[in-house]
Amino acid sequence: MRQQLLEMLMNHQGEFLSGQQISDQLNCSRTAIWKHIAELRKQGYQVEAAPKKGYRILSSPDAVTADEISIRLKTEKFGRQIVSKESVSSTQEIAHKLSHEKCEEGTLVVADEQTGARGRMGRPWQSPKGSGIWMSLILRPEIPLQRAPQLTLLTAVAVVKAIHKVTGLNAEIKWPNDILINGKKVVGILTELQAEADRINSVIIGIGMNVNLSSDELPDEIRGIATSLQIETGQAIRRADLIAAVMKEMELLYKQYLQEGFHLIKLLWESYALSLGKRIKVRTISGEFEGFAKGITDEGVLLLEDDENQIHQIYSADIEIPRS
Ligand code: BTN
Repeated sequence: MRQQLLEMLMNHQGEFLSGQQISDQLNCSRTAIWKHIAELRKQGYQVEAAPKKGYRILSSPDAVTADEISIRLKTEKFGRQIVSKESVSSTQEIAHKLSHEKCEEGTLVVADEQTGARGRMGRPWQSPKGSGIWMSLILRPEIPLQRAPQLTLLTAVAVVKAIHKVTGLNAEIKWPNDILINGKKVVGILTELQAEADRINSVIIGIGMNVNLSSDELPDEIRGIATSLQIETGQAIRRADLIAAVMKEMELLYKQYLQEGFHLIKLLWESYALSLGKRIKVRTISGEFEGFAKGITDEGVLLLEDDENQIHQIYSADIEIPRS
């Protein structure tokens, strides 16, 4: 009901809607409307109430609440169930729990702040309050276990497309799943699985996006190698717009992927990839070496050709693209 009211007000930005119009359309009492308006104000919406005219919305907060996201969603399933929290340890943890409880595919967990977020290879992931997108999406694909990494590549492609649509920026992908703008990391993706034997129960895709972080908010140790969308555009970005755009791009690609396979995703991924065809340095648990990034396999494995023309399959590593 509150969401429908918000949707009505947002669809008539700048105009007054009378109490009568609202109560007719939403089939509720004037008192109920007043209560919901008070609740919206508590959430940070500025709503003007004028005698004989009604209500109009003056401004809305850059919030990652279910209300703000839902009114922008253009999906069938993705993000239609939202769990939105102010502060959590990690959205991945909540998503794992929900997944065990058999939540629907497409359920999205979003937080305004994370205090114990995790990145790839057990690293911590800084998630300050109010300035980023910290979210986890639960998928239940019926695919063999070994194809799960393809979903990370699909996510990277969807995020690049969504960033372009919302900000006009051209982001690039650094294998396996870092998203960079002007050579600095702006998004990280962490894919985790719940599986039994060779059957996937769920894939939990964690996405961390530095949206409105200022350079002071970027931790010292990564300031030279990380950036945010606000730093790159010089403008604050409405986080709910970007979340809705990511959900839309992901749903479209996911449907296509389940129907037609990985081929299109692979082509798109390669078209956005930063390292392909370049000489790169690879840091794996078994050591460091250099070579040319030749491409990826259908399993998302990186193919590296060394100076003796040997092709190596890289499953997990950090890569560096030395400046030429
Ligand atoms: C990386 O190391 O690049 C991946 C970072 C993934 C961070 C996201 S933020 C939302 C979700 N919750 C977590 O604890 N991690 C992921």
